[in-house]
Amino acid sequence: MSFVIAPSILSANFANLEQDIAKVEAVGCNFLHIDVMDGHFVPNITIGVPVVASLRKITTATLDAHLMIDNPLKYAPDFAKAGADIICVHIETLENPTKDLEQLKNLGTKIGLALNPDKDFSTIKDYVSLVDMVLIMSVFPGFGGQSFIEETLNTVKQVKEFSVKNNLSLDIQIDGGINKETIKKASEAGANILVAGSAIFGAQDAGQMYTDLNTLAKEAVTC
Ligand code: DX5
Ligand code: ZN
Repeated sequence: MSFVIAPSILSANFANLEQDIAKVEAVGCNFLHIDVMDGHFVPNITIGVPVVASLRKITTATLDAHLMIDNPLKYAPDFAKAGADIICVHIETLENPTKDLEQLKNLGTKIGLALNPDKDFSTIKDYVSLVDMVLIMSVFPGFGGQSFIEETLNTVKQVKEFSVKNNLSLDIQIDGGINKETIKKASEAGANILVAGSAIFGAQDAGQMYTDLNTLAKEAVTC
């Protein structure tokens, strides 16, 4: 299972994304988390398909589209065409999860399934084997810079146990409030894709922060 720090460009400078992305790519980053919000599923509007298409032209990094939108089935094909490598949808937005996830798998991207912090693992358990990645939200989706909700670590542990027990090759992503203080706990609990937005792009030196987070997370799993 690969181990990844995933900078969320939500906290980058939207007037110069290329420059901010170059800062983390210069220190080895090849995975970017893209927060798509529709002002309906979450109370905020952010990035859409044209931004993903533009990013595809300037980076070879894995583009991870976190769709915080209603009706994701309608828009997912456009994100796939624009160059997203992973399309992650919220369980709360799927009418018929089994059928909908099967349909999404035809897009040819990796598929992720996200769960809000107030939902139990049982909400997604039946669908985990259908996806490549489970995203446990450690804040309520909508905004960067919120505080990490500790209770969500239990859900990460449950997903990890389930994955090991069922011999799945599943990525476990955690998103929200990841910083130097919280990253070790998230990594120890079993998350292998750790999203960090404000911690990285709000830092004086984004590249150095990426490196520090990477080191801390790896220490947590090797000791
Ligand atoms: C929140 C988004 C996150 C956000 C994380 O709804 O899904 O990806 O960018 O930001 P930080 O790392 O600042 O909590
Ligand atoms: Zn996100």
